[in-house]
Amino acid sequence: MTEKRDDLYLPSREFVEQAHIQSRAEYERMWKQSIEDPDTFWGYIAKDFHWFKPWTQVYRGEPEIGDNEWFVGGKTNICYNCLDAQIEKGRGDKVALLFQGEPEADCKRFTYNDLLKHVCRFANALKKNGVKKGDRIVLYLPMIWQLPVVMLACARIGAVHTVVFGGFSAEALADRMLACGAKKMVTTNGYWRSGQKINAKANADKACMLCANAGLTIDDVFVVDRMVDFEVPYITYRDTALSKELMLDEISDYCPAEKMDAEDPLFIMYTSGSTGSPKGTLHTTAGYMVYTYTTFKYIFDYKEDDIFFCTADIGWITGHSYIVYGPLLNGATTVMYESVPTYPEPDRFWHIIDKFKVTIFYTAPTVIRALMNQDIQWIEKHDLSTLRLLGSVGEPINPEAWHWYSHYVGHDRCPIVDTWWQTEAGGVLISTIPGAFGSKPGSAALPFFGVKPVVLRSRTSGDEPAVEADVNEKGELCLASAWPGIMRTLYGEPERHQNGYYTQQPGYFFTGDGAYKDVDGYFWITGRIDDVVNISGHRLGTVEIEDALLSHPAIVEAAVVGYPHKVKGEDLYAFVILDKNSKESEEDIRKELKAVVRSDIGPIAVPGKIQFVREMPKNRSGKVVRRILRKIASNEIDEISDSMINILAEPGVVDEIAQNRIGDK
Ligand code: WT7
Repeated sequence: MTEKRDDLYLPSREFVEQAHIQSRAEYERMWKQSIEDPDTFWGYIAKDFHWFKPWTQVYRGEPEIGDNEWFVGGKTNICYNCLDAQIEKGRGDKVALLFQGEPEADCKRFTYNDLLKHVCRFANALKKNGVKKGDRIVLYLPMIWQLPVVMLACARIGAVHTVVFGGFSAEALADRMLACGAKKMVTTNGYWRSGQKINAKANADKACMLCANAGLTIDDVFVVDRMVDFEVPYITYRDTALSKELMLDEISDYCPAEKMDAEDPLFIMYTSGSTGSPKGTLHTTAGYMVYTYTTFKYIFDYKEDDIFFCTADIGWITGHSYIVYGPLLNGATTVMYESVPTYPEPDRFWHIIDKFKVTIFYTAPTVIRALMNQDIQWIEKHDLSTLRLLGSVGEPINPEAWHWYSHYVGHDRCPIVDTWWQTEAGGVLISTIPGAFGSKPGSAALPFFGVKPVVLRSRTSGDEPAVEADVNEKGELCLASAWPGIMRTLYGEPERHQNGYYTQQPGYFFTGDGAYKDVDGYFWITGRIDDVVNISGHRLGTVEIEDALLSHPAIVEAAVVGYPHKVKGEDLYAFVILDKNSKESEEDIRKELKAVVRSDIGPIAVPGKIQFVREMPKNRSGKVVRRILRKIASNEIDEISDSMINILAEPGVVDEIAQNRIGDK
């Protein structure tokens, strides 16, 4: 049994006795060293990796301005460390990857030897077709086993991968290809989702056309055959069927790993920010490698016999770090599945845990909330007794979901680690270390090694110095140190990197989240304080969605805010002003607006509610006061204070908008 003390849940003695770190004191000693002497701390860990050439300096840079380099002068290869190095350590016949496709029979096991062979063959096929070190290559691939294989193949030959989530539209895909200037893409003929065959190639083709219209010619599209008998059109001079390439005699089973500089780019991951266009976070080789390895080992208390299942999509950073790189760098067995948690039945995860004897399970609060609404028989019919640790990521976990997760999935026996981090971080930043100290439902707990979070008061003017908030006082969550996994820049936008992260609180990395710290030093994340929303764990910028709405000719103004949603965590509420000359019905326009967002960004960004308003609440300088709209959308109209109304040019609009608020169905 996990022991409960106030709101603190301690791990059982059995868990502690086998854990890597067994007390808070031990954790604190390590944390202190990681902050005071990072060179010794990270240098010691990095020695266990394979280096073609050792580094000359562990860290060089100025964390206050986001100028960071790790393992300076070192040469390594992350794919070599994920595969070859594991085989050298005797793990060749150990299962590296378990793939569960949507059709139950479509289940594949790859040992480390198998995976190395597949990766080398894909790498050789890409190389033969001209993919080179430093090339940006977009992977528009769903959750099929070829996705991690192609990522590792790129890493092996030094090509920089940019995985674009399959739920994004052709337009969103093209934006990302244009932003990183990728002239090559890997996609698939199709995939399974909830019993449907999805044609990914059609979106890929459309994105290439949009790129060409914008002046970027796509030279190569490599197509993975996920589906059999699913014919898609091929453009002969551009498209290459990878399955045919892989059959050629000249494609050998071995491909040497490129000697990469520690700071050579590994991948670009696009994410949303407060302003319109997506931001391409650039992650480099050695620091990311050492950080994902270390966080995986300690936060999931990873041991040789564990079977690890992270339910994220590899199209997001969680999947990069904790389905692919972190687990493989530890020589672990990692599980990936195709499709959705509720198809064919809502017991998909419980079935997979049972089938593969999963020991560590990592998912998101939105998934837990969706599954706890299902009949309890779906979970009770499966044997979950192999589980020993549970994880949560993506948003603060509400205590109700935490308790359900702990009881029904963890049988009151598994510690829960709530891991707070973000795309920019590369790996987890704040979490429980499960053998070392307890968890409090709703709190992400304490910083990982190398991470120094501070809660600062908001500044009203540029000259004000940074001031730390008191215990339990809410403020802006910032980071005062550099850890090896931190992004190095925003690809092609160094100024945006500077201005977006290092000027809000000069000298600190600004996370965009609000938080407070309690008397035990535990951090409680209260959510984004910028114009970023989190819909079912998908990070979106409200400005991107407003831009899409404004592209409709009948819309003259649009403001989008997030509001609490029982299952998704947050949903989107759009306030729009219609052109006076528009003749269409509101219902028709509403449908068209949803279609516009779906095609510009993707189905994940479609607002749940769209309200037509006559006027926006604007301050005297004409800026929309979103705080008021957020209160209306959240049905917290009573909390709109007089001081908020007094700054408005036309205070009467608030009542008018509030009266027409769209309620919950
Ligand atoms: C934002 C980052 C890398 C994690 C996946 C999402 C929110 C994430 C937690 C958590 C409270 C969380 C934050 C953060 N968030 N995990 N455990 N508790 N909030 O990465 O898409 O870059 O989103 O997700 O608001 O800033 P992302």
